[in-house]
Amino acid sequence: MRQIITFLMLGITSILFSQNKLLIPDTLSGTNINLNLQYGSFEFYPGVQTSTMGANGDILGPTLILKKNQFVDIKVKNELNDTTTIHWHGMHVSAENDGGPHTTIAPSATWNPSFTVLDKAGTYWYHPHLHEKTNLHVSKGIAGFIIVRDEEEAALTLPRTYGVDDFPLVIQTKTFDANKDIVVPSNADSVVMVNATIDAELEVPAQVVRFRLLNGSSQRVFNVGLNNGKKIYQIASDGGLVSKPIELTRLQLSPGERAEILINFSTSAPGETVYLMSYASEFQNGIYGATYPGMNSMQTLNNYNPNPINGTNFNLMQFKVVSETVNPIKSIPTDLVDVTPLLESNSDVTRNLTLNPVQRGPNMLNGEFLINNVSFDMDVINYTIPLNNTEIWSITNQTPIAHPFHIHDVQFYILDRNGVAPEPSEQGRKDVVIIKAQETVRFITKFEDFADDSVPYMYHCHMLTHEDGGMMGQFSVVTTTDVKDDLAVPEKFELHQNYPNPFNPSTKISYSIPLGANNKYPFVSLKIYNILGSEIATLVGKEQQAGNYQVTFNATELPTAMYIYQLQVGNFVQTKKMMLIK
Ligand code: C2O
Ligand code: CU
Ligand code: CU
Repeated sequence: MRQIITFLMLGITSILFSQNKLLIPDTLSGTNINLNLQYGSFEFYPGVQTSTMGANGDILGPTLILKKNQFVDIKVKNELNDTTTIHWHGMHVSAENDGGPHTTIAPSATWNPSFTVLDKAGTYWYHPHLHEKTNLHVSKGIAGFIIVRDEEEAALTLPRTYGVDDFPLVIQTKTFDANKDIVVPSNADSVVMVNATIDAELEVPAQVVRFRLLNGSSQRVFNVGLNNGKKIYQIASDGGLVSKPIELTRLQLSPGERAEILINFSTSAPGETVYLMSYASEFQNGIYGATYPGMNSMQTLNNYNPNPINGTNFNLMQFKVVSETVNPIKSIPTDLVDVTPLLESNSDVTRNLTLNPVQRGPNMLNGEFLINNVSFDMDVINYTIPLNNTEIWSITNQTPIAHPFHIHDVQFYILDRNGVAPEPSEQGRKDVVIIKAQETVRFITKFEDFADDSVPYMYHCHMLTHEDGGMMGQFSVVTTTDVKDDLAVPEKFELHQNYPNPFNPSTKISYSIPLGANNKYPFVSLKIYNILGSEIATLVGKEQQAGNYQVTFNATELPTAMYIYQLQVGNFVQTKKMMLIK
């Protein structure tokens, strides 16, 4: 399995260079799928056992091969001593099947989601999502691919024989201590692996080969390309096929993102070695992976991350070209599928979100970071979205580092970055979008099919350190019937004047809640807006019992201005103004 090749480099240094055969996860398909989350031990380094976590094995998990419109009944057994969850990243499933932080699986318990696969053919993935432990459980090893197939994709001349001309590649960097134990969290992740294989080698037939790339790293962004300068052809983004193959020399992939690519090895000589690289030296500062992950060296001198692979070009893995298979595909198709983005004119609402630092320094790498100036609170629903709403989310990154923003439930279409239409590789269906420092990205999406007023969906940064640190929010999709329930609530609420007013930097806002109809406690939302109507913060967003409440609004990070606070319960809305003077 492991070949050891020793060679001399520059005639000075003798290095031991080993290539390890790429691990290819087993597959599971059919209606009944069993996943056992378990502890394991895996040989990342020859002769050294590292303790890991995996699904149905020591590391990673089996690739689930699903068909669109099929029903699937999944049993996830938790054999760990720790509570966890499993989330089907990118898939359009109901909130209770989504596996977010609310849907915990206790040790020894089995979770049994079941759903009809509604997604287009594409590459999705599953991973744990327990609040504050996502990074630990993913970095220790639990992550698996989901390949969805459909008729539209089946009609195209594309490689699709798993493990022969169609390979899943999860790219990760990890940190190992001196005992070769995995360190979580860490900014010293300099060990590069593909499918848990360090220095991976894969034999590829001399023809068109499809790779399903997934960035499964905690934090690192990759800039994928080939060392021989040849082109790669992107055929799918997060949510499935794009309209035609996109010819690229570099493909940027941030945590959580997927891309399917074709590489044409038919002109390569047998025995030829081609390296899949990450050209991180080409990254501008302000991206985790660049020399200075902060915006520029001046701002982040204190936070300079001395990770040896930051800002360098490094191998992800190598391909060794071997003879072709029977019935090889030898050319890149010219057209794929019709992609019909949602139209901006069909949007029902624009929501403005901000990604904020909790304070200016000292740690611009790990945060903590906030969304709309608040940290994740399991008990606060940040947005209530009417079922079938088409929405534009406009997200402004006010921090000095790029964040991969991910939303559950839906695929979206990027409208623009700082007003400029996205590159072809970002024009398809997406569920993760990297938002660079000081950039505003707008996307459009539709919240269809699933409503649930008890289990919410998540949106968050997919840098797992940031997500665990609270850079996450949640939304409920509700039907108009749910909204009518709220309308039945008696209108005896009262929003009192805040005190002090004017204030600096904080003020107290109080309100009174009467008992709701039918013993149902009303859903209370108290939000702060600026005078342009942009939401600044959600102070309250949950069901509350009758009573008098007081919350503190802290405006340390905000400029002198008039602000508006609004209490909303069903169709009861009361708004008041307050003045921050610094
Ligand atoms: Cu891949 Cu909410 O996550
Ligand atoms: Cu997700
Ligand atoms: Cu982030």
